[in-house]
Amino acid sequence: MKSIEPNQAIEQALRDAPQVDLSWIEPPPTADGWTLAPDALRFVTKIVEVLRPRHVLELGSGLSTRLLSRAAGALSPKCVISSVDHDPQFNWGSGGATEENGGAKVKFHLAPLVVREFGGKLLGAYLIQPEKLATKQPADLVVIDGPPVNLGGREGTLYQVMDFARPGTIVLLDDSKRPEERAAIKAWEENLGDAVTIRQLPGFAKGMASIVINRPVATKDFWRQRFELSKAEIERIVPEGQSVLIAGDNWWGDELDLARPVLPFTEKDRKYWGEPADDAAAIAELDRLIAGGARFIAFGWPTFWWLAHYKGLTAELSRRGRRVLDNDRLVLFDLRKHE
Ligand SMILES: C[S@@+](CC[C@H](N)C(=O)[O-])C[C@H]1O[C@@H](n2cnc3c(N)ncnc32)[C@H](O)[C@@H]1O
Repeated sequence: MKSIEPNQAIEQALRDAPQVDLSWIEPPPTADGWTLAPDALRFVTKIVEVLRPRHVLELGSGLSTRLLSRAAGALSPKCVISSVDHDPQFNWGSGGATEENGGAKVKFHLAPLVVREFGGKLLGAYLIQPEKLATKQPADLVVIDGPPVNLGGREGTLYQVMDFARPGTIVLLDDSKRPEERAAIKAWEENLGDAVTIRQLPGFAKGMASIVINRPVATKDFWRQRFELSKAEIERIVPEGQSVLIAGDNWWGDELDLARPVLPFTEKDRKYWGEPADDAAAIAELDRLIAGGARFIAFGWPTFWWLAHYKGLTAELSRRGRRVLDNDRLVLFDLRKHE
């Protein structure tokens, strides 16, 4: 059978989900508990039917695991499910999630929650051991419904899911209306660019977002991805030949490798000269470098704290220039207004 294109599968599942029967679930699921809400349970069931995945990866076990197993049990060729959770009460041998009669095989993986670095960001993540998943094959469908916000939230999970994805993998993010999930989506868009296509799907009580993976960015390549996007943004905005100050130690600017003249901020003999003593010193240095020809100043993620710490400098930058970029990786000021 020919496989269906990801967006078509999402559309068809949205259309047909209301017909899915959930009456077998005891007690009936509600929209205000820990489990997927009824609308999400219907949609997930339908997308399994429509997409016909071979491998479903779930982060956050529970009622959804039973439902995935039941929906995938009918598929041929067979589908296997990897269900990851940090809490024994909701994972393997716990009675929290059990395999359905006639359902697809579920491989539970109890994975501690840890903090890991993703391209210079420290984020909560499951300590996934790939050999503990149901198969080595990439996942066709991923459901992100954990970890809980109080244990680190979900931003890190998409980055780590990339190691188990292929072009065309569909990732579903539950609870996507909450501020924390909205913030994660914003960070994903800003850090992954066109490697993903993210959509808030219509009509879900707690929100449901789809993330189609156009090009998996492996965790080991995520660092470079953040630099590539930042470099492209700066070179799109800064005209050729105009010079850019880069706040902080040289390493960030060196990694960026801009095709524009670059000077560190602060500077002496073209070398980084350390953090400014205070706002007055920072503004004096800015004046000197602008007089020398600097036209833009960039703050990469390692120096974001400068913007909060040197409040006087930040106010001065906004007064005499314009903040032309402000995202999870980069803040860029255009200082040409004063000319
Ligand atoms: C949103 S829940 C996942 C629910 C699951 N996908 C379902 O549909 O039943 C996220 C995580 O919270 C934890 N959890 C679930 N119910 C809980 C409860 N009543 N109290 C504390 N933690 C809970 C589990 O570790 C679970 O993986």
